Amino acid sequence: MNPEGSIITEGSTKILVPENHSVHGPGKIMGTVFFNEQMSFNRDISVMFLRAMGRDMTVADAMTATGSRAVRIANEVPNCEVTANDISADAIPYIDANIELNGLENCRSSNRNMHGLFADETFDYVDLDPFGSPVPFIQSAIRGCRRKGILAITATDTAPLAGAHAPKCRRRYQSEPIRGFMCHEGGLRILMCTIAKELAKYDRGMKPLLSFYADHYFRTYIQVLEGAENADRTLAQLGYMEYHTDTLERSTSRTYDADHKYGPFWLGQLHDREFLDRMDPTGMASEKRCAKYLDVWRNEIDSEVFVYDMSELSSHIKMSPPKIDDFMDFLSQHGRASKSHVSPTSFKTDIPLDELKSLYREFSPDASRKL
Ligand SMILES: C[S@@+](CC[C@H](N)C(=O)[O-])C[C@H]1O[C@@H](n2cnc3c(N)ncnc32)[C@H](O)[C@@H]1O
Repeated sequence: MNPEGSIITEGSTKILVPENHSVHGPGKIMGTVFFNEQMSFNRDISVMFLRAMGRDMTVADAMTATGSRAVRIANEVPNCEVTANDISADAIPYIDANIELNGLENCRSSNRNMHGLFADETFDYVDLDPFGSPVPFIQSAIRGCRRKGILAITATDTAPLAGAHAPKCRRRYQSEPIRGFMCHEGGLRILMCTIAKELAKYDRGMKPLLSFYADHYFRTYIQVLEGAENADRTLAQLGYMEYHTDTLERSTSRTYDADHKYGPFWLGQLHDREFLDRMDPTGMASEKRCAKYLDVWRNEIDSEVFVYDMSELSSHIKMSPPKIDDFMDFLSQHGRASKSHVSPTSFKTDIPLDELKSLYREFSPDASRKL
């Protein structure tokens, strides 16, 4: 039976999607096969990422639903052999239709539980895009990832990771999430910490190439590193954090103590700058948005220091915020400073807090009135 739906174009790929599908937001399960138009940005990133790898890759899109990501990769990335897998039998006619629609010979459908697939086969690139948390699937994904392969993992359970459901985060990720302006960076780093700990069990470590929060989800692309030394080096980049909302003081520690109760988090880099330089947004479905994010990712300070937010400083200091771009230029004259991708009003800096507060007072638009 032919699957029902309509054909959309994403990037340069045609995709047959169920008529009843999500358009915005986290995406609801509406029919038997899931599709969320808003995740086209997420799929764009996968295409740009794999193009930047620049080598032959075997790809497993382990939870592909309509096959949207798999067929985009097979169609838009040279030299890829793609397995488009989903446990749901209802998904297979969509995947097969999408392979045919794009005339692909480098993509096959697979109707397996991903745990079984990765017990039998390994791939250079393994993609996990589950409903909610990836935790139940990470171990199998690691098993299915070849030596020095790539793990690409999405988490849409934002409420636990960002601390709105802290008990769930403690159970699922065994980590204490942080609330407030740091919640999304904190959630991303908890997800990455969980992957690092899982890899270490197999004497493997990780180097993040790109990690971000966007819309309603977290996503990380990790290069797997082989060997016990790399596992140890990876574990050495996990740690805890403290944050005082009354003073805005924050600090990290490699060990848990009474002053560092949040976490554990991944405290290392979120991205690999050289890799990001090879990613090109030309022709992507959300080309402008991809270019904007790439620019912020390439320039953001991405390790150790957790984000500040303009409204956090403004309510603490009780002076109106300056324009963030101007403020970043001003801060850069005194130390390292960059915008952060997690929100348009967030930024990172290594300028000591007291100095940051006085620079803010000096630069606030209220300053001239107070003089
Ligand atoms: C969020 S949807 C994937 C969306 C898809 N990646 C896209 O970009 O449109 C999650 C999919 O995971 C599938 N799934 C859930 N558990 C699975 C398992 N154990 N093995 C394989 N697929 C699974 C579901 O059937 C569902 O289609």
